[in-house]
Amino acid sequence: MAVTELRVGGRVLALAQGDITAFAADAIVNAANSALAGGGGVDGAIHRAGGPGIMAELRARYSGCPTGSAVATGAGRLPAKWVFHAVGPIWRGGGAGETELLASAYRAALRLGDEHGARTIAFPAISAGIYGYPLREAATIALSTVRDHLAGETILERATFVLFSADTFAGSAEVLGATVIAEAGVPRRVRP
Ligand code: APR
Repeated sequence: MAVTELRVGGRVLALAQGDITAFAADAIVNAANSALAGGGGVDGAIHRAGGPGIMAELRARYSGCPTGSAVATGAGRLPAKWVFHAVGPIWRGGGAGETELLASAYRAALRLGDEHGARTIAFPAISAGIYGYPLREAATIALSTVRDHLAGETILERATFVLFSADTFAGSAEVLGATVIAEAGVPRRVRP
């Protein structure tokens, strides 16, 4: 079963296919590197579309960002108000703390969302491109981390994963569907 939207309490976790630089959310998340030096993939696309002001702000305010954390800038010409530059891990086979570092990168971006007062936030599939994290494993961590945040104390109302390719979108929708099915199979306590 492919699922593209999930209600989490009064909030929504959604999947969309497209280019995150064109996505209208209060904050969009970048898949950056720890030098905050720009690069290819979604990082390159965000700096190209947002203009040089984003890199200028990064250079002025930060000297880097450890893997598993995130920093915020304005969004230049993008339709968003902020870009949160989150640094996911390079995939090294799974035994180098990748799971925790990837979850931590998402949590750092979500925390920045709350600190800045964002009600909507959009994520790419952090680490699942140039950094080589297998998509399904990355999607499982990404979706559960964002979902846990939406289920807790947050002012975020909607989190959207904007997946660039049809394959990434379909794989993420399958992973989201699998978690829904797994939970539906858990017996619930029925009130007398
Ligand atoms: N919108 C949404 N998603 C995009 C876009 C876009 N415009 N462009 C690429 N993607 C997707 C990729 O297809 C992939 O699924 O984003 C996902 C993350 O891929 P990367 O951008 O390669 O990010 P990551 O794997 O985290 O590697 C980070 O790449 O460009 C460098 O500076 C960056 O060194 C860092 C590294």
